[in-house]
Amino acid sequence: MLISEIIQKVKSECSGKWKDYVIEESTTRDKILYGNPNQECTGIVVTLFASVDVIKRAKELGANFIIVHEALFWNHGDHTDWLVDNETYKQKVELLGDICVWRNHDYIHSGIMIDGQYVDGIFTGLMHELGWEKYLTKELKYPREYTIDEKPVKELCDELMDKLHLNGIKCAGDMNGTCKKIMFPMHLIGQIDNDVTKYVEENDIDTLICMEATDFTTSEYIRDSAMLGRNKRILAVGHFNVEEPGMKWFAEHMKEYIDVNIEFVRSGDAYSFVKNVH
Ligand SMILES: [Fe+2]
Ligand SMILES: [Fe+2]
Repeated sequence: MLISEIIQKVKSECSGKWKDYVIEESTTRDKILYGNPNQECTGIVVTLFASVDVIKRAKELGANFIIVHEALFWNHGDHTDWLVDNETYKQKVELLGDICVWRNHDYIHSGIMIDGQYVDGIFTGLMHELGWEKYLTKELKYPREYTIDEKPVKELCDELMDKLHLNGIKCAGDMNGTCKKIMFPMHLIGQIDNDVTKYVEENDIDTLICMEATDFTTSEYIRDSAMLGRNKRILAVGHFNVEEPGMKWFAEHMKEYIDVNIEFVRSGDAYSFVKNVH
């Protein structure tokens, strides 16, 4: 099967619509980021981010096609004209060789058909990895809000570190209380943060498990809330760590309709933590 045929098949298995927005070829992020798709596929690696280690693993597996969720060359739109003299860029390109890389971002978020309805593949994969299906309290299409069996914060942190393969979690707010009403907000980078703060307040959310968490918005509100004795905290698990299980789930789903060897390769937690013990 040609790589280009695999891409078409994956797209056809997705909704292609994102709320009111219909994915268009001219504007979608989901482009060939590197290489030639008009070649026979020797194997597929599915990952969140095609890091150098992921590319090396693809080569060990004999796979010439990598499907990613994030950009390959470190910027929105994967522009490379500014990188021609960049040593890491040059070495990464050399390592890629004949490998083709395609981004599946808009399509997987637009929805994969499960039990008669399209669901966001990334957040559905996260829900399955956590085993939280029975706790889901909001819509199935974008599963991002849960009411779990109440447990101490540290117990929830242990569960997240274990299931999401984390080196640690950056936390703010009350670390001695209990967690029950949980929300995964999207990127807290200054755009939707006031809406999230309002939502937390109005819906009595006690725990945010977030992708990015900037210091100057919702994190401040959570911190002040905790200082006033309110049971609230933010667990900044990280953007890629939240989304990685979605690509693992997608790799399994792909096996139902693509007859080529498919391996999920974890790009893993980028962060390590140094704790001040003094
Ligand atoms: Fe992302
Ligand atoms: Fe995403």
